Amino acid sequence: MPPSSLSSELPLSFSLLLLLLLQILGARAQELTVLQTRGPLKLTEGETLHLNCTLTGFGPPGSVRWYKGSDRVQAPVYNDKTPPPPRVERVVPLSDTDYSIRIRSILPEDAGTYYCVKYKAGSPEREYKVGKGTEVLVTATPSQPSIGGPPSRVDLGTSVTFNCTSDGFFPRDITVTWLKDGRTIRASQTFTLPPGKSTSYQVVSTVEVSLTEKDVKSELTCKIHHNTLNRPLEQSFKLGDALRVTPKISMEPSHLVNALVNQLVTITCSAKGFYPNNTSLVWWENGSETGPGAPEPVTQEWDGTFSLKSTLEVNATEPRNHSVFTCYAVHNSLTSNHVYLILKVFREGKVDNFSPNKGQGLFSKPELWIIFVLNKTSVFLFLSIVLWRKMSRQGESRKQESPIMLQSTHQK
Ligand SMILES: *[C@@H]1O[C@H](CO)[C@@H](O)[C@H](O)[C@H]1NC(C)=O
Ligand SMILES: *[C@@H]1O[C@H](CO)[C@@H](O)[C@H](O)[C@H]1NC(C)=O
Ligand SMILES: *[C@@H]1O[C@H](CO)[C@@H](O)[C@H](O)[C@H]1NC(C)=O
Repeated sequence: MPPSSLSSELPLSFSLLLLLLLQILGARAQELTVLQTRGPLKLTEGETLHLNCTLTGFGPPGSVRWYKGSDRVQAPVYNDKTPPPPRVERVVPLSDTDYSIRIRSILPEDAGTYYCVKYKAGSPEREYKVGKGTEVLVTATPSQPSIGGPPSRVDLGTSVTFNCTSDGFFPRDITVTWLKDGRTIRASQTFTLPPGKSTSYQVVSTVEVSLTEKDVKSELTCKIHHNTLNRPLEQSFKLGDALRVTPKISMEPSHLVNALVNQLVTITCSAKGFYPNNTSLVWWENGSETGPGAPEPVTQEWDGTFSLKSTLEVNATEPRNHSVFTCYAVHNSLTSNHVYLILKVFREGKVDNFSPNKGQGLFSKPELWIIFVLNKTSVFLFLSIVLWRKMSRQGESRKQESPIMLQSTHQK
Protein backbone atom coordinates (compact mmCIF):
# COMPACT_ATOMS: atom_id res chain seq x y z
CA MET A 1 0.00 0.00 0.00
CA PRO A 2 2.00 3.03 -1.18
CA PRO A 3 1.22 6.21 0.79
CA SER A 4 0.62 8.20 -2.44
CA SER A 5 -2.72 6.38 -3.07
CA LEU A 6 -4.11 7.69 0.24
CA SER A 7 -2.86 11.27 -0.02
CA SER A 8 -5.51 12.39 -2.56
CA GLU A 9 -8.40 11.60 -0.15
CA LEU A 10 -6.87 13.05 3.03
CA PRO A 11 -5.86 16.52 4.19
CA LEU A 12 -2.26 17.37 3.44
CA SER A 13 -1.12 17.77 7.06
CA PHE A 14 -2.66 14.43 8.02
CA SER A 15 -1.19 12.64 5.04
CA LEU A 16 2.22 14.06 5.91
CA LEU A 17 1.85 12.73 9.44
CA LEU A 18 0.76 9.38 8.13
CA LEU A 19 3.70 9.31 5.76
CA LEU A 20 6.05 9.93 8.66
CA LEU A 21 4.36 7.19 10.71
CA LEU A 22 4.52 4.72 7.88
CA GLN A 23 8.16 5.55 7.34
CA ILE A 24 8.91 4.75 11.00
CA LEU A 25 6.78 1.60 10.83
CA GLY A 26 8.32 0.70 7.48
CA ALA A 27 11.76 0.82 9.03
CA ARG A 28 10.57 -1.32 11.93
CA ALA A 29 8.61 -3.64 9.67
CA GLN A 30 11.84 -4.37 7.87
CA GLU A 31 12.26 -8.07 7.18
CA LEU A 32 13.78 -10.09 9.99
CA THR A 33 17.53 -10.59 9.80
CA VAL A 34 19.65 -13.09 11.70
CA LEU A 35 23.01 -11.60 12.56
CA GLN A 36 25.83 -13.90 13.55
CA THR A 37 29.45 -13.36 14.50
CA ARG A 38 31.63 -13.52 11.46
CA GLY A 39 34.10 -16.34 11.67
CA PRO A 40 36.27 -18.06 11.74
CA LEU A 41 36.67 -18.30 15.49
CA LYS A 42 39.87 -20.05 16.49
CA LEU A 43 39.83 -21.89 19.77
CA THR A 44 41.99 -24.36 21.63
CA GLU A 45 40.49 -27.53 23.05
CA GLY A 46 38.95 -26.84 26.47
CA GLU A 47 38.11 -23.17 25.89
CA THR A 48 34.61 -21.65 25.88
CA LEU A 49 33.05 -20.85 22.54
CA HIS A 50 30.88 -17.70 22.28
CA LEU A 51 28.41 -17.77 19.43
CA ASN A 52 26.55 -14.50 18.97
CA CYS A 53 23.17 -14.36 17.28
CA THR A 54 20.96 -11.29 17.18
CA LEU A 55 17.59 -10.96 15.48
CA THR A 56 16.63 -7.61 13.98
CA GLY A 57 13.44 -6.58 12.21
CA PHE A 58 10.05 -8.17 12.38
CA GLY A 59 9.22 -11.78 11.92
CA PRO A 60 6.55 -14.31 12.60
CA PRO A 61 6.39 -16.16 15.90
CA GLY A 62 8.50 -19.28 16.09
CA SER A 63 11.51 -20.75 17.77
CA VAL A 64 15.21 -20.01 17.29
CA ARG A 65 17.74 -22.82 17.22
CA TRP A 66 21.43 -23.30 16.73
CA TYR A 67 22.66 -25.98 14.40
CA LYS A 68 26.07 -27.21 13.48
CA GLY A 69 26.39 -27.73 9.76
CA SER A 70 24.11 -26.43 7.05
CA ASP A 71 22.14 -29.63 6.53
CA ARG A 72 20.37 -29.60 9.96
CA VAL A 73 20.45 -33.36 10.05
CA GLN A 74 21.73 -33.64 13.58
CA ALA A 75 19.87 -32.52 16.66
CA PRO A 76 20.19 -28.79 17.30
CA VAL A 77 23.05 -27.58 19.47
CA TYR A 78 20.55 -25.28 21.16
CA ASN A 79 16.77 -25.01 20.98
CA ASP A 80 15.04 -22.15 22.81
CA LYS A 81 12.04 -24.40 23.50
CA THR A 82 13.93 -27.17 25.31
CA PRO A 83 16.49 -27.20 28.14
CA PRO A 84 20.00 -26.83 26.71
CA PRO A 85 22.54 -29.67 26.74
CA PRO A 86 25.04 -29.64 29.65
CA ARG A 87 27.84 -27.65 28.04
CA VAL A 88 25.56 -25.10 26.36
CA GLU A 89 23.91 -21.99 27.86
CA ARG A 90 22.10 -18.87 26.69
CA VAL A 91 24.05 -15.66 27.24
CA VAL A 92 20.90 -13.55 27.78
CA PRO A 93 18.19 -15.96 28.94
CA LEU A 94 14.63 -15.12 27.80
CA SER A 95 15.73 -12.36 25.43
CA ASP A 96 13.71 -12.40 22.21
CA THR A 97 16.38 -10.72 20.15
CA ASP A 98 19.66 -12.04 21.53
CA TYR A 99 20.04 -15.75 21.01
CA SER A 100 23.78 -15.87 21.73
CA ILE A 101 25.03 -19.06 23.33
CA ARG A 102 28.18 -20.27 25.07
CA ILE A 103 29.61 -23.76 24.69
CA ARG A 104 32.02 -24.69 27.46
CA SER A 105 35.01 -27.08 27.27
CA ILE A 106 35.20 -27.10 23.51
CA LEU A 107 36.35 -30.31 21.85
CA PRO A 108 38.01 -30.91 18.49
CA GLU A 109 34.80 -32.53 17.28
CA ASP A 110 32.93 -29.30 18.06
CA ALA A 111 34.67 -27.66 15.13
CA GLY A 112 32.39 -26.79 12.23
CA THR A 113 30.07 -24.04 11.03
CA TYR A 114 27.29 -23.03 13.39
CA TYR A 115 24.02 -21.58 12.12
CA CYS A 116 21.48 -19.57 14.05
CA VAL A 117 18.07 -20.43 12.55
CA LYS A 118 14.72 -18.68 13.02
CA TYR A 119 11.61 -20.80 12.47
CA LYS A 120 8.07 -19.85 11.62
CA ALA A 121 5.58 -21.53 13.95
CA GLY A 122 2.86 -23.66 12.45
CA SER A 123 2.38 -27.17 11.28
CA PRO A 124 4.58 -27.97 9.80
CA GLU A 125 6.99 -25.54 11.35
CA ARG A 126 9.11 -23.91 8.67
CA GLU A 127 12.58 -22.54 8.53
CA TYR A 128 12.20 -18.79 8.20
CA LYS A 129 15.65 -17.15 8.26
CA VAL A 130 19.19 -18.38 8.73
CA GLY A 131 22.31 -16.49 9.75
CA LYS A 132 25.39 -16.57 7.56
CA GLY A 133 27.05 -19.10 9.81
CA THR A 134 30.04 -18.89 12.14
CA GLU A 135 32.95 -21.09 11.35
CA VAL A 136 34.67 -22.52 14.40
CA LEU A 137 38.15 -24.05 14.35
CA VAL A 138 39.42 -26.02 17.31
CA THR A 139 43.07 -26.73 17.81
CA ALA A 140 43.28 -30.10 19.43
CA THR A 141 45.75 -31.17 22.09
CA PRO A 142 47.28 -34.26 20.50
CA SER A 143 47.68 -37.35 22.59
CA GLN A 144 51.04 -38.67 23.75
CA PRO A 145 52.12 -41.12 21.03
CA SER A 146 52.25 -44.80 21.78
CA ILE A 147 54.49 -47.38 20.15
CA GLY A 148 53.26 -50.89 19.52
CA GLY A 149 55.66 -53.74 18.88
CA PRO A 150 55.26 -57.44 18.18
CA PRO A 151 52.68 -59.31 20.28
CA SER A 152 55.38 -61.46 21.83
CA ARG A 153 59.16 -61.53 21.95
CA VAL A 154 60.88 -62.52 18.74
CA ASP A 155 64.15 -64.28 18.01
CA LEU A 156 67.25 -62.59 16.64
CA GLY A 157 67.20 -61.81 12.94
CA THR A 158 63.44 -61.37 12.85
CA SER A 159 62.10 -58.37 11.03
CA VAL A 160 59.62 -56.64 13.27
CA THR A 161 57.06 -53.94 12.54
CA PHE A 162 56.58 -51.18 15.08
CA ASN A 163 53.82 -48.63 14.86
CA CYS A 164 53.50 -45.24 16.42
CA THR A 165 50.05 -43.77 16.96
CA SER A 166 48.82 -40.41 18.14
CA ASP A 167 45.53 -38.63 17.72
CA GLY A 168 43.78 -35.32 18.20
CA PHE A 169 45.55 -33.33 15.51
CA PHE A 170 44.13 -30.42 13.58
CA PRO A 171 44.89 -29.40 10.91
CA ARG A 172 45.83 -32.46 8.93
CA ASP A 173 49.54 -31.94 8.25
CA ILE A 174 51.44 -34.25 10.56
CA THR A 175 55.04 -35.44 10.11
CA VAL A 176 56.47 -38.50 11.79
CA THR A 177 60.17 -39.30 12.09
CA TRP A 178 61.76 -42.43 13.52
CA LEU A 179 65.10 -42.75 15.24
CA LYS A 180 67.04 -45.81 16.28
CA ASP A 181 69.61 -44.96 18.95
CA GLY A 182 69.47 -41.34 17.83
CA ARG A 183 69.89 -42.07 14.13
CA THR A 184 67.08 -41.40 11.71
CA ILE A 185 65.59 -44.44 10.07
CA ARG A 186 63.01 -44.55 7.32
CA ALA A 187 59.36 -45.17 8.11
CA SER A 188 57.69 -47.84 6.00
CA GLN A 189 54.37 -46.01 5.92
CA THR A 190 52.65 -43.06 7.52
CA PHE A 191 48.88 -42.64 7.38
CA THR A 192 46.70 -39.81 8.51
CA LEU A 193 43.18 -40.86 9.41
CA PRO A 194 40.40 -40.45 8.52
CA PRO A 195 41.19 -40.01 4.83
CA GLY A 196 38.39 -37.46 4.38
CA LYS A 197 37.66 -34.12 6.03
CA SER A 198 37.64 -34.17 9.78
CA THR A 199 38.01 -31.98 12.81
CA SER A 200 40.55 -34.28 14.43
CA TYR A 201 43.15 -36.48 12.78
CA GLN A 202 45.02 -39.52 13.89
CA VAL A 203 48.46 -40.45 12.63
CA VAL A 204 49.79 -44.00 12.35
CA SER A 205 53.34 -44.59 11.24
CA THR A 206 55.05 -47.94 10.85
CA VAL A 207 58.70 -48.87 10.71
CA GLU A 208 60.41 -52.18 10.05
CA VAL A 209 63.41 -53.18 12.15
CA SER A 210 65.46 -56.33 11.84
CA LEU A 211 66.55 -57.21 15.34
CA THR A 212 70.13 -58.18 16.06
CA GLU A 213 72.07 -59.11 19.17
CA LYS A 214 73.12 -55.47 19.60
CA ASP A 215 69.51 -54.41 19.90
CA VAL A 216 69.15 -55.66 23.46
CA LYS A 217 70.16 -52.15 24.55
CA SER A 218 68.80 -50.24 21.54
CA GLU A 219 66.03 -47.72 21.66
CA LEU A 220 63.52 -46.85 18.99
CA THR A 221 62.00 -43.36 19.07
CA CYS A 222 58.99 -41.95 17.26
CA LYS A 223 58.74 -38.16 16.91
CA ILE A 224 55.61 -36.37 15.80
CA HIS A 225 55.86 -32.89 14.38
CA HIS A 226 52.84 -30.61 14.03
CA ASN A 227 52.56 -26.85 13.73
CA THR A 228 50.42 -26.59 16.86
CA LEU A 229 53.23 -28.10 18.94
CA ASN A 230 56.12 -26.17 20.45
CA ARG A 231 58.29 -29.24 20.27
CA PRO A 232 57.64 -32.65 18.69
CA LEU A 233 55.86 -35.30 20.69
CA GLU A 234 58.15 -38.22 21.47
CA GLN A 235 57.81 -41.82 22.51
CA SER A 236 60.51 -44.45 22.89
CA PHE A 237 60.54 -48.21 22.87
CA LYS A 238 63.29 -50.42 24.25
CA LEU A 239 63.99 -52.98 21.56
CA GLY A 240 65.13 -55.41 24.25
CA ASP A 241 61.46 -55.65 25.24
CA ALA A 242 60.70 -57.21 21.86
CA LEU A 243 63.67 -59.57 21.82
CA ARG A 244 64.33 -63.07 23.00
CA VAL A 245 67.89 -64.32 22.88
CA THR A 246 68.37 -67.98 23.71
CA PRO A 247 71.41 -68.87 25.75
CA LYS A 248 74.58 -70.51 24.48
CA ILE A 249 75.16 -73.35 26.82
CA SER A 250 78.38 -75.16 27.72
CA MET A 251 79.75 -77.52 30.31
CA GLU A 252 83.03 -77.67 32.12
CA PRO A 253 84.47 -80.28 31.82
CA SER A 254 82.98 -81.08 28.47
CA HIS A 255 81.77 -84.33 26.98
CA LEU A 256 83.48 -86.76 29.30
CA VAL A 257 84.80 -86.86 32.78
CA ASN A 258 87.01 -89.60 34.14
CA ALA A 259 87.04 -89.97 37.86
CA LEU A 260 88.30 -92.34 40.45
CA VAL A 261 85.86 -94.29 42.52
CA ASN A 262 84.30 -92.01 45.16
CA GLN A 263 86.03 -88.95 43.81
CA LEU A 264 83.96 -85.78 44.16
CA VAL A 265 83.45 -84.34 40.70
CA THR A 266 82.31 -80.78 40.08
CA ILE A 267 80.49 -80.08 36.85
CA THR A 268 79.75 -76.49 35.85
CA CYS A 269 77.06 -75.57 33.37
CA SER A 270 77.05 -72.06 31.86
CA ALA A 271 74.30 -70.31 29.96
CA LYS A 272 75.57 -67.17 28.25
CA GLY A 273 74.15 -64.29 26.25
CA PHE A 274 70.47 -64.77 26.96
CA TYR A 275 67.79 -62.13 27.14
CA PRO A 276 65.65 -61.37 29.04
CA ASN A 277 66.70 -62.54 32.50
CA ASN A 278 64.45 -65.54 32.64
CA THR A 279 66.68 -68.54 32.17
CA SER A 280 67.22 -71.25 34.70
CA LEU A 281 69.36 -74.35 34.56
CA VAL A 282 68.14 -77.80 35.42
CA TRP A 283 70.25 -80.89 35.92
CA TRP A 284 69.36 -84.41 34.92
CA GLU A 285 71.19 -87.58 35.72
CA ASN A 286 70.38 -90.27 33.20
CA GLY A 287 66.59 -90.25 32.92
CA SER A 288 65.64 -88.20 35.95
CA GLU A 289 65.80 -84.60 37.03
CA THR A 290 68.13 -83.93 39.92
CA GLY A 291 67.31 -80.26 40.48
CA PRO A 292 68.89 -76.87 39.89
CA GLY A 293 72.32 -77.79 41.24
CA ALA A 294 74.00 -74.80 42.89
CA PRO A 295 73.12 -71.79 40.71
CA GLU A 296 75.19 -68.64 40.95
CA PRO A 297 73.48 -65.22 40.68
CA VAL A 298 72.63 -64.03 37.19
CA THR A 299 75.10 -61.49 35.85
CA GLN A 300 74.51 -58.90 33.15
CA GLU A 301 77.08 -58.39 30.42
CA TRP A 302 78.09 -55.07 28.84
CA ASP A 303 75.82 -55.79 25.87
CA GLY A 304 72.82 -56.17 28.11
CA THR A 305 72.56 -59.94 27.86
CA PHE A 306 72.60 -62.17 30.92
CA SER A 307 74.77 -65.07 32.01
CA LEU A 308 74.16 -67.80 34.52
CA LYS A 309 76.18 -70.67 35.98
CA SER A 310 75.23 -73.69 37.99
CA THR A 311 77.47 -76.32 39.50
CA LEU A 312 76.71 -79.90 40.34
CA GLU A 313 78.77 -82.00 42.72
CA VAL A 314 78.78 -85.67 41.94
CA ASN A 315 80.28 -88.41 43.97
CA ALA A 316 81.75 -90.81 41.41
CA THR A 317 80.42 -94.03 42.86
CA GLU A 318 80.75 -97.29 41.00
CA PRO A 319 77.10 -97.52 39.96
CA ARG A 320 77.49 -94.08 38.36
CA ASN A 321 79.92 -95.49 35.80
CA HIS A 322 78.63 -94.30 32.38
CA SER A 323 76.08 -92.01 33.93
CA VAL A 324 74.96 -89.16 31.69
CA PHE A 325 74.70 -85.71 33.29
CA THR A 326 72.64 -83.25 31.32
CA CYS A 327 72.18 -79.56 31.90
CA TYR A 328 69.05 -78.02 30.39
CA ALA A 329 68.52 -74.31 29.91
CA VAL A 330 64.91 -73.38 30.51
CA HIS A 331 64.37 -70.08 28.74
CA ASN A 332 61.03 -68.28 28.62
CA SER A 333 59.49 -71.38 30.18
CA LEU A 334 60.71 -73.38 27.21
CA THR A 335 63.54 -75.84 27.25
CA SER A 336 65.72 -74.20 24.65
CA ASN A 337 68.91 -76.27 24.58
CA HIS A 338 71.04 -78.62 26.59
CA VAL A 339 74.48 -80.06 26.94
CA TYR A 340 75.61 -83.28 28.58
CA LEU A 341 78.62 -85.26 29.66
CA ILE A 342 79.35 -88.84 30.55
CA LEU A 343 80.99 -89.84 33.76
CA LYS A 344 83.43 -92.70 33.70
CA VAL A 345 84.46 -94.20 36.96
CA PHE A 346 87.77 -95.97 37.33
CA ARG A 347 89.42 -97.87 40.03
CA GLU A 348 92.66 -96.03 40.69
CA GLY A 349 94.78 -98.32 38.54
CA LYS A 350 92.80 -97.74 35.41
CA VAL A 351 92.74 -93.95 35.22
CA ASP A 352 94.61 -92.83 32.14
CA ASN A 353 93.06 -89.47 31.75
CA PHE A 354 92.71 -87.73 35.02
CA SER A 355 89.99 -85.17 34.78
CA PRO A 356 90.76 -81.50 35.32
CA ASN A 357 88.25 -81.32 38.12
CA LYS A 358 88.90 -79.18 41.14
CA GLY A 359 87.14 -81.79 43.22
CA GLN A 360 89.36 -83.61 45.67
CA GLY A 361 89.90 -87.29 45.12
CA LEU A 362 88.85 -89.72 47.74
CA PHE A 363 91.10 -92.62 47.04
CA SER A 364 90.34 -96.09 48.13
CA LYS A 365 93.98 -97.10 48.50
CA PRO A 366 95.67 -95.54 51.51
CA GLU A 367 99.14 -95.33 49.90
CA LEU A 368 97.77 -93.19 47.06
CA TRP A 369 95.86 -91.05 49.51
CA ILE A 370 99.03 -90.36 51.42
CA ILE A 371 100.90 -89.50 48.24
CA PHE A 372 98.18 -87.15 47.20
CA VAL A 373 98.02 -85.22 50.43
CA LEU A 374 101.77 -84.85 50.88
CA ASN A 375 101.85 -81.61 48.95
CA LYS A 376 100.75 -80.15 45.68
CA THR A 377 103.74 -81.38 43.73
CA SER A 378 102.66 -84.89 44.62
CA VAL A 379 99.81 -84.54 42.13
CA PHE A 380 102.34 -84.50 39.37
CA LEU A 381 104.13 -87.46 40.89
CA PHE A 382 100.88 -89.32 41.24
CA LEU A 383 99.97 -88.69 37.62
CA SER A 384 103.39 -89.83 36.50
CA ILE A 385 103.06 -93.06 38.45
CA VAL A 386 99.64 -93.70 37.04
CA LEU A 387 100.80 -93.04 33.53
CA TRP A 388 103.92 -95.13 33.92
CA ARG A 389 102.03 -98.08 35.41
CA LYS A 390 99.46 -97.98 32.71
CA MET A 391 101.97 -97.73 29.87
CA SER A 392 104.14 -100.51 31.21
CA ARG A 393 101.15 -102.77 31.77
CA GLN A 394 99.24 -102.27 28.58
CA GLY A 395 101.93 -101.73 25.97
CA GLU A 396 100.49 -102.03 22.49
CA SER A 397 96.94 -102.95 23.49
CA ARG A 398 96.62 -99.63 25.36
CA LYS A 399 94.46 -98.00 22.73
CA GLN A 400 91.77 -100.63 22.82
CA GLU A 401 91.40 -100.61 26.57
CA SER A 402 91.37 -96.89 27.07
CA PRO A 403 87.92 -95.35 27.55
CA ILE A 404 86.17 -94.44 24.38
CA MET A 405 85.98 -90.69 24.09
CA LEU A 406 82.54 -89.46 23.31
CA GLN A 407 82.12 -87.01 20.54
CA SER A 408 80.80 -83.47 20.83
CA THR A 409 77.55 -83.43 22.67
CA HIS A 410 76.40 -79.93 22.03
CA GLN A 411 72.88 -79.82 20.85
CA LYS A 412 70.44 -77.08 20.03
C1 LIG B 1 29.35 -11.33 21.11
O1 LIG B 1 28.64 -10.26 21.66
C2 LIG B 1 29.21 -9.72 22.81
C3 LIG B 1 28.26 -8.65 23.36
O2 LIG B 1 27.31 -8.29 22.46
C4 LIG B 1 30.58 -9.16 22.51
O3 LIG B 1 31.16 -8.64 23.69
C5 LIG B 1 31.42 -10.25 21.95
O4 LIG B 1 32.69 -9.79 21.59
C6 LIG B 1 30.77 -10.90 20.78
N1 LIG B 1 31.53 -12.06 20.42
C7 LIG B 1 31.95 -12.30 19.19
C8 LIG B 1 32.76 -13.54 19.01
O5 LIG B 1 31.64 -11.58 18.25
C1 LIG C 1 67.55 -61.91 37.28
O1 LIG C 1 66.29 -62.40 37.75
C2 LIG C 1 66.29 -62.85 39.08
C3 LIG C 1 64.95 -63.49 39.37
O2 LIG C 1 63.95 -63.02 38.57
C4 LIG C 1 66.57 -61.68 40.01
O3 LIG C 1 66.56 -62.09 41.34
C5 LIG C 1 67.93 -61.11 39.64
O4 LIG C 1 68.19 -59.98 40.43
C6 LIG C 1 68.02 -60.75 38.18
N1 LIG C 1 69.40 -60.43 37.89
C7 LIG C 1 69.77 -59.41 37.12
C8 LIG C 1 71.23 -59.20 36.90
O5 LIG C 1 68.95 -58.67 36.59
C1 LIG D 1 83.48 -98.38 34.14
O1 LIG D 1 83.38 -98.84 32.82
C2 LIG D 1 84.60 -99.02 32.15
C3 LIG D 1 84.31 -99.47 30.73
O2 LIG D 1 83.79 -98.43 29.98
C4 LIG D 1 85.43 -100.06 32.89
O3 LIG D 1 86.68 -100.16 32.27
C5 LIG D 1 85.59 -99.64 34.31
O4 LIG D 1 86.27 -100.62 35.02
C6 LIG D 1 84.27 -99.38 34.96
N1 LIG D 1 84.48 -98.85 36.27
C7 LIG D 1 84.13 -99.48 37.39
C8 LIG D 1 84.46 -98.81 38.66
O5 LIG D 1 83.55 -100.56 37.36
